[in-house]
Amino acid sequence: MTVWIGTSWKMNKTLAEAVDYAGGLRQALSGRSLGSVQPFIIPPATALASVAGVLDGTSVLVGAQNAHWEDAGAWTGEVSVPQVSDAGARLVEIGHSERREHFGETDETVRKKVDATLRHGLIPLLCIGEPDEVHNAGTSSEYILEQARRALDGLEDALLAKVLIAYEPIWAIGAGGRPAHPDELRAPFAALAGTFGGRVAGLLYGGSVDLANASGLLDLPHVDGLFVGRAAWALEGYVQLLDLAAGLAGGDERRSEMEGVDQ
Ligand code: PGA
Repeated sequence: MTVWIGTSWKMNKTLAEAVDYAGGLRQALSGRSLGSVQPFIIPPATALASVAGVLDGTSVLVGAQNAHWEDAGAWTGEVSVPQVSDAGARLVEIGHSERREHFGETDETVRKKVDATLRHGLIPLLCIGEPDEVHNAGTSSEYILEQARRALDGLEDALLAKVLIAYEPIWAIGAGGRPAHPDELRAPFAALAGTFGGRVAGLLYGGSVDLANASGLLDLPHVDGLFVGRAAWALEGYVQLLDLAAGLAGGDERRSEMEGVDQ
C-alpha cells in the first residue's frame, strides 16, 4: 500500500530557498530507501518549474497549489492545468480551505478543477474539511462526504482511481489550529472509506501534523498518508517525516509477509 507524505509550502520561499530545499531533498533521497512511501512537494507557482527540474528523475512528485479549469484565455492572474503541467507538475491541489475561505473557491469551481486536472492526466489532490461549528455539532462526516461527492460524483472508476483526497479539518490547520486527536478522526475516515475506500488513490490527513503526532495519525484505519504544512517547511522536518513513515510502512509490510496477508 502506498503511503503518501507530502507538503505544500503555501506562500513561502524565494526561488533560491525553494531550489535549496529541493537540492537537499534530492541528496537526502539518494541515500535512502523509502519503500512504499510516495513523497510529494507543492511549491509556490514561482518555484514550480525550478523545483520540478531539480527533482527530475527522483521519486518525488511535484504539484501546483491551484490551477484554473480553463486551458487558456483571459483569466488575469490565473494559471491553467496545461501550464502547471508544462512547468513539471504531476499533481494539482484543489479546494484547500484557505482558497475556499479567501479566494471564493466553491464546490462548483472545485469540481471544474478536478475535471480539468484529470482531463490533462494530472492527479487531483482534493482538499475537504469542516469548520469548527460543524465539528462541534458532531456532523463532520456528513459535511465532508457531501464536499467530496460534489467534487467527484459521476467520475468513471478509472478517473476516480487517480484522485487523492486530503481530509483537513479547518479547525486543525495552521498556527491557530488545534491538532486533531486520532479519536476525532476515526468516524470521518470511516465515512470516507465507506464511499471512496479502494476507489481513490488514497485518503490523506492534514492539519497540524508534526513528528510527534505523525505515527498516531498514520496508524489510524483508512489513513493512507499525510499532507503537511509547517512541520515540513524546513527540509529536515520533511525528511524526518519521510523516515518515520518509511519505518512504519516497512514494519507493516514485514508483518503482513509473515502473516501471509497482501496489503
Ligand atoms: P499545517 O497545514 O500542517 O501547517 O497545519 C496543513 C495544511 O494546510 O495542509
